[in-house]
Amino acid sequence: MTAIETPSALTSSGLRDRFGRVIRYLRLSVTEKCNFRCHYCRLAAGEGGEPRHDPLTTAELVRLVRLFARLGVGRFRLTGGEPLLRRDITTLLAAMLALPGVEEVSLSTNAYLLAGMAQELRNLGLRRVNISLDSLKPEMFARITRGGDLARVLSGIDAAVAAGLAPVKINTVVMGGINEQEIPDLINYARGRGVLLRFIETMPIGDAGAAVMGRHVPAAEIRARILATCGGELLPVSQPVGNGPASYFRIAGLGVDVGIISALSQHFCDTCNRVRLTSWGDLVLCLGREDRVDLREVLRSHADDATLCDMIAQAILRKPRGHEFAASSVSDNISPHPMASLGG
Ligand code: 5AD
Ligand code: SF4
Repeated sequence: MTAIETPSALTSSGLRDRFGRVIRYLRLSVTEKCNFRCHYCRLAAGEGGEPRHDPLTTAELVRLVRLFARLGVGRFRLTGGEPLLRRDITTLLAAMLALPGVEEVSLSTNAYLLAGMAQELRNLGLRRVNISLDSLKPEMFARITRGGDLARVLSGIDAAVAAGLAPVKINTVVMGGINEQEIPDLINYARGRGVLLRFIETMPIGDAGAAVMGRHVPAAEIRARILATCGGELLPVSQPVGNGPASYFRIAGLGVDVGIISALSQHFCDTCNRVRLTSWGDLVLCLGREDRVDLREVLRSHADDATLCDMIAQAILRKPRGHEFAASSVSDNISPHPMASLGG
């Protein structure tokens, strides 16, 4: 009699999902807390969405990263909320980078605390950092982030560049009537500092994301605005690294590259190689879908490594083909996961 085979995502090339995509990248939200409340990410104070889960401990996070790395996941990103609010962030980074199979740990931050930490992070081995910057006007910045201090963020960006963190990428969520006029200024700013700017379409992620969909500016309009204000042509250039969701273009008139991330107008699901972990230990298989697996319970039930690895491999088989965001019917397709627990 032959044994009945249980399907497994674990293959010789790594974790392979039902659609043949090999998972190489894990985004770890290390805290739900944030010192900003960007409109597209969080609701206003008192309207809901407050942090409500205890985060995983450093030891739990390091253990999960060790197991993911054993399963062929080599790239990790620390996100939040705001990851630099976690007091153990440098300990965590160092411990992760010391694990076999961990090729890279990168960071997504609002940069509020970055000025004082950039050099230490760089010394520990951090290289890539993504920073949110939606406006260069102090009042508008404070409005979008509900109280954020632009000057501190700009000095955080300068500190990142000075410390040798590279690449430094700036993420700007484009909102009609709010910051779309600033597209050329942001391009000039990024060019002056040698950082790579990426414009992001609003996505209906969580209630806050859904609330800004009325401001949605499709990628085609973002491109048109760049062309109208910066001149020349937009020439496609290849992805600097990995399978990220951005398309990159060279603005011929300026000789500078920009990225555009359009979850709605262009599906990037076919090449998706990533999964996400919430700060409390849910493995989220797709940004736009319900599918998730609670790893924390197993983690805390004294399960051995083999059991946990098996659970992760089984979870990967639940990764759906893609999200179903559609600009026209946002209310039907809003992602169930608030962005603040997934970090983008
Ligand atoms: N739409 C698009 N991007 C979002 N982000 C958070 N919420 C949204 C949303 N609703 C991304 C932004 C931000 C990062 C932390 O997460 O890029 O810079
Ligand atoms: Fe905080 Fe980033 Fe969300 Fe803004 S987008 S509230 S900085 S987690």
